[in-house]
Amino acid sequence: MQTIPKNSILIVDDTPNNIRILFDILHEAGFKVSVVKSGEMALEKLSFIQPDLILLDVMMPGIDGFETCRCVKANETTKDIPVVFMTALSEVEHKVKGLQLGAVDYITKPIQVEEVLARVNAHLALRNTQIQLLQEISDRKQAETQLQQTLTELQHTQVQLIQSEKMSSLGQLVAGVAHEINNPVNFIYGNLIHVKQYIENLLRVLQYYQKYYPTPEPEVKSEIIAIELDYIIEDLPKLINSMKIGAERIREIVVSLRIFSRLDESEMKYIDVHEGIDSTLMILEHRLKSNSSNPCIQVIKKYGNLPQIECYAGQINQVFMNIINNSIYALEEAKKYREFTPTITICTEIIASDRIKISIADNGPGIPKDLEQKIFDPFFTTKPIGVGTGMGLAISYQIITQKHRGSLRCISHSIGGTEFEIIIPLKQTL
Ligand SMILES: Nc1ncnc2c1ncn2[C@@H]1O[C@H](COP(=O)(O)OP(=O)(O)OP(=O)(O)O)[C@@H](O)[C@H]1O
Ligand SMILES: [Mg+2]
Repeated sequence: MQTIPKNSILIVDDTPNNIRILFDILHEAGFKVSVVKSGEMALEKLSFIQPDLILLDVMMPGIDGFETCRCVKANETTKDIPVVFMTALSEVEHKVKGLQLGAVDYITKPIQVEEVLARVNAHLALRNTQIQLLQEISDRKQAETQLQQTLTELQHTQVQLIQSEKMSSLGQLVAGVAHEINNPVNFIYGNLIHVKQYIENLLRVLQYYQKYYPTPEPEVKSEIIAIELDYIIEDLPKLINSMKIGAERIREIVVSLRIFSRLDESEMKYIDVHEGIDSTLMILEHRLKSNSSNPCIQVIKKYGNLPQIECYAGQINQVFMNIINNSIYALEEAKKYREFTPTITICTEIIASDRIKISIADNGPGIPKDLEQKIFDPFFTTKPIGVGTGMGLAISYQIITQKHRGSLRCISHSIGGTEFEIIIPLKQTL
């Protein structure tokens, strides 16, 4: 008969004759055998050994085999060890009771060598297969967890790739445009001061002419009427002034574009967060002002007294852009269906002395509870095809949590609206 060597068996019996026979059979068959003479001793022994099978006599002084079996099955560390009862042929009710208590089988006394070996081997084979199966399940679960982890990492890498691709192409474009506009605008802006001065001088000379030559030749007189000289004299300074205001505005936009892209500053830098928010608002100004297709959106700023913070400026500005853009879209949509003053409120404050909180809130429709979990997922969007990619918040989340060790969360309010809360440390380098 094939035995399963190296498996260990605990014999619990108080009859020396039985013990001797069993020990001899099992020892000879190659098992590691231990013997105890009572239920109490068995339980004590089980606290420091883990046999692969227990052969348990029913009738013993002290706690009997049933009670011992109950204790074995109630204990987390021993409950899976198969128990085989040893009962006399006549004790049918013992066999039933033993099986009900969790025993796997019974051996009939007087003991038959072949029967003992056959049953013991069958149960050890079962037990070994069970252990192997459990191991396989646990291995599989581990592999599954690992796979899931790899998948998540892969997704993160994908987001990062798209993010850096988006950032570098957008940043390059913005920086390029800003650079190209910068020079011509400076020509205009720089020369406007001289143009203003020259025109003032020319007008003064004209005034002298009018004073000392009050009656010009008819040809000059008709030309003065034709060009409406009086109007030109009055309007020219105003015209120059509005050109100056326009040129100043272009200069401001160029500065904002440069702050926004920060292409030349790819490493960590100390920056003024308010400058970043303001430059983003400046870039989005055409969408905040009212026109035929957009309502006017009110922006309320409640800026705290913040120190400069260390961060990747271009990326942080990208986050402001994504969040404010989402708010503008939500407000534009809401305005189509109800009358209200669309408002974006931006608050900043220093918290816990080593981090800052930036909150960007709108009084739009808010985000339904069941979607709140999904909005940071890559490619999740509720916008029509072609309008949103669903990457804005996924990218923002990664920038804040991974690149800046901060947190980004969406807070719902019972009164409606959406609030995004960004928390970032003042310093990144420790
Ligand atoms: N302020 C907000 N109000 C209402 N819903 C919002 C707001 N901000 C985000 N959402 C919801 O979260 C979704 C995901 O936003 P996310 O910025 O990631 O992608 P998107 O705006 O749809 O597309 P993308 O930004 O890539 O163009 C949006 O489609 C919208 O449903
Ligand atoms: Mg978006």
